[in-house]
Amino acid sequence: MHSGANIENLIRTQYGYTGEFYYLEHHLSHAASSFYPSGFDSAAILTIDGVGEKATTTMGVGKKGKISILKELQYPHSVGLLYSAITSFLGFKVNNDEYKVMGLASYGKPEYQEAFGKLVAVSESGAIILDLSYFEFHRNGNQMFSDKMAGLFGPPRVPEMDNIELRHANIAASLQLVTEKIIDKMLANLFDMTGEENLCMAGGVALNSVANWKCFKRSLFKHIFIQPAAGDGGSSIGAALWIAHQVSNETLNGTTPYHTMLGPAFCDDEIQGYLDNEQADYTYLDGSDLYDTVTDLILENKIIGWFQGRMEFGPRALGNRSILANPCHPAMKDIINRRVKFREDFRPFAPAVIEEEYHKYFDLEFPSPYMLFVPKVRDGMAQKIPAVTHVDNSARVQTVSKAVNPKFHSLIKAFGKKSGIPVLINTSFNIRGEPIVCSPKDAYKCFLYTDIDYLVMGNFLIRKEI
Ligand SMILES: [Fe+2]
Repeated sequence: MHSGANIENLIRTQYGYTGEFYYLEHHLSHAASSFYPSGFDSAAILTIDGVGEKATTTMGVGKKGKISILKELQYPHSVGLLYSAITSFLGFKVNNDEYKVMGLASYGKPEYQEAFGKLVAVSESGAIILDLSYFEFHRNGNQMFSDKMAGLFGPPRVPEMDNIELRHANIAASLQLVTEKIIDKMLANLFDMTGEENLCMAGGVALNSVANWKCFKRSLFKHIFIQPAAGDGGSSIGAALWIAHQVSNETLNGTTPYHTMLGPAFCDDEIQGYLDNEQADYTYLDGSDLYDTVTDLILENKIIGWFQGRMEFGPRALGNRSILANPCHPAMKDIINRRVKFREDFRPFAPAVIEEEYHKYFDLEFPSPYMLFVPKVRDGMAQKIPAVTHVDNSARVQTVSKAVNPKFHSLIKAFGKKSGIPVLINTSFNIRGEPIVCSPKDAYKCFLYTDIDYLVMGNFLIRKEI
């Protein structure tokens, strides 16, 4: 542990903190963020990101509350930075839009594998060496790739100017395939090293839900847990949990099921006070009346802003700050994009399904509560839920349990009773480039400024004035 006198002083003087300070390595925080909430007594742990201190990937093991890092890959050789460099080459934002590249990959063919063979050498254990002559990030923080990269892929795409062409989708598909091959090798190596059946993952690359699913399925691991806030935000949870286990000697592992509802909540009185102040047009609906009314609206293909309980921690809205719609309407993806989200056409929307019935619709053997896996939609089901089925017949599914989110579960179940399909489109309650809404004020403003048809906050159904 190191000392950081300036930071300590700042925290003591600004916040009046009088306790101890502990400094954790970045990847240890990522590892802890996944292992401690996993519920596993022991597990192999893989963390992959851009870079933290010097490490870009670590392999380790967690046992009886202790985490040991066994092996690490060091900067500048980084799967995360490779993915980010190509994200930038394709005209998207680094550290932000990598998931768009993952979505775009489904539209292409991996025709640039040979070119990627020049960018990155991959050993049998999954260790990589980047050919730095194609990159710039290690010399100049503002530029990810060098001019030489155009020799492999053609000219880089100019953001917001150049259209997205098949060539871009093919580059994305090749990147995705190379990434999956690297992770396959890392997982094989990690399994050999640890002999564990359980796998925990964290780090920004663990948000690559397509790779997570394919690589886990091909590995010898039997169970998997991925920290839903796998990016750097989630390392704060890891650091806190590590201290709780190592310093305070608490044992939190497996005591309660992990969930992401850790943010602010607003009671009905607060919501009503805000709505009255805004002179909003609302109705209070009790119990089943709420589910009945909202599911009728969704069946009429209305777009619903759904604001309930505590805000989710991490990058995904999982049913508390969500926009919901009918997954059975073939044009619903385009309708939401056109009227509310204003995002790229190629990006799919995710389905939320009740946990009791996910296996009927998706080729998934275990629940996926955080949208971190992308299984295939089962044969014959894609035409029933066209708005959430991606171009390659996959879906970034969220399974919703009654125990974790009873209100969202009840709504989806009520929709299933009427439509025969206990699935809803669930996309985050925000517009392109904006953060997810947090407070009633954020939600109401987003509702007013977009073409969301109805807003539900707590038990209040809010209409737009005509
Ligand atoms: Fe990180």
